[in-house]
Amino acid sequence: MSSWWQTGIVYQIYPRSFQDSNGDGVGDLPGITQRLDYLQNLGVDAVWISPIYPSPMADFGYDVSDYCGIHPLFGTMADMDRLIQAAHDHNLRLILDFVPNHTSNEHPWFLESRSARDNPKRDWYIWRDPAPDGGPPTNWLSRFDGQSAWEWDAQTEQYYLHSFLAEQPDVNWRNPDLRAAMLDVLRFWFDKGVDGFRIDVSYRAMKDAQFRDNPPNPNWREGMDPAKRVIETYTRNTPDIEHFNRWLREVADEYDDRVLIGEINLPPHELVKHYGRSLNGLHLPFNFNLIFTPWDAAAVRDLIEMYEAALPHGAWPNWVLGNHDQHRIASRVGTAQARVAMLLLLTLRGTPTLYYGDELGLLDGEIAPEQVQDPWEKMVPGLGLGRDPERTPMPWTSAVNAGFCPPNIIPWLPLNADSVIVNVASQQDDPDSMLRFTQKLIQLRRETAALNQGRYHSLPARDGVLAFARQHGAQTIWVVLNMTGEAKSWTLPDDVGETAVLLTTASNPPIITGNALPLHPNEGVILAV
Ligand code: NOJ
Repeated sequence: MSSWWQTGIVYQIYPRSFQDSNGDGVGDLPGITQRLDYLQNLGVDAVWISPIYPSPMADFGYDVSDYCGIHPLFGTMADMDRLIQAAHDHNLRLILDFVPNHTSNEHPWFLESRSARDNPKRDWYIWRDPAPDGGPPTNWLSRFDGQSAWEWDAQTEQYYLHSFLAEQPDVNWRNPDLRAAMLDVLRFWFDKGVDGFRIDVSYRAMKDAQFRDNPPNPNWREGMDPAKRVIETYTRNTPDIEHFNRWLREVADEYDDRVLIGEINLPPHELVKHYGRSLNGLHLPFNFNLIFTPWDAAAVRDLIEMYEAALPHGAWPNWVLGNHDQHRIASRVGTAQARVAMLLLLTLRGTPTLYYGDELGLLDGEIAPEQVQDPWEKMVPGLGLGRDPERTPMPWTSAVNAGFCPPNIIPWLPLNADSVIVNVASQQDDPDSMLRFTQKLIQLRRETAALNQGRYHSLPARDGVLAFARQHGAQTIWVVLNMTGEAKSWTLPDDVGETAVLLTTASNPPIITGNALPLHPNEGVILAV
């Protein structure tokens, strides 16, 4: 029997940008609750919301100052309780974001920790003496600006580690009291009925115990992401990360049917270690490899085969095409390929995670320099690293501010310029829209065991076409994707009998003649065999 988190689809909401219910230009929890009917109609199974906890918002909530509270911008704990209940009433699971690598520098734990060297919570964070030359203890770099990840504290005369902003000090998971406090956070939310966690940069939680310098990156050049000047051998994916994964898993296993999804940016052979030696690690180490693979049929096919081959026996795969840290998929592959991308995401073997708005084919928003919010863009402007473009508000209607917030309010980020045309209401009215296509695709995936749990194997294809089969019992489905902007033809295997087109991204189903399946430019097709 498969679990909900295996056959289901996860939908990621960036809460600031989904639905504002109180007219302050920022999305909130009651806004999400209002939109549960939409999510249920879309057909997804679980909703993951990025952090909603109290936070000074230096990194828009990924700097948590109280893990068991709700930031007033997003609502109250009563709003959260209502959301959990309402989600379950809609047959939707709710997944929260757990940020275990760092807290806010305003978290009471850190305030205590930095107050004195002999404070009982000193060791809850990573404090070190200067190197012999008086400088930072290691060459470790902050992920955002590529400057030293060590911040000097003049009062106690030691450095503390921050893998991201200086306002995000890293905690010390080797300290048993910190560990116990963090694990109790999971229990707090599980007890409230939350169905799982997405774990922020889980693979960074353990740092090298010997504090060795990271080796320089020989491929780094001026103009590249400054944090990539070193290879992160000692600051992420260290061998003892398996302990961290197991500590979390043991807590999840105290409850029925919960899921742990790790944010891990690694190639397949490294990524799969996070399932644990006997699958006692994370249920789903996020697989971001499609995001970083060229949008090319041969490259994607190689990736799928490599990932499938790397998976440990019994480990359940997963795929991601977009999130709040990556430019929108429609901007990356082009509007014409957006449906092909959705078709791929929702027909590969494993749990798909769909980023809000991708079901509309949303493009990156245009952010003028004075509108920039993301600290990353502010620190290293102009390198294209800023994440505001993919965080613009969800367009619901063609009204001013698209029904996201009242027309007379300035939303925290601007709506996309095309939101008068590209919005939920107009796409719902248009049978040929991306939204209606996505709904049909999700429906087909839900009712087709071969798609939501069947085996995968590649089918012969060339020349920009990707083809694969999904199989469950007697049911066989073929997926054929033209990943180019030119018309193509795919040759069906000789011994195939009757086939039926179940879905196409084009307006009319293709007519198969003999063994030839003609494909329009940018067309994806699902066939029953
Ligand atoms: C990964 C999150 O997805 C990103 O948005 C955040 O800035 C960093 N982790 C730091 O928490």
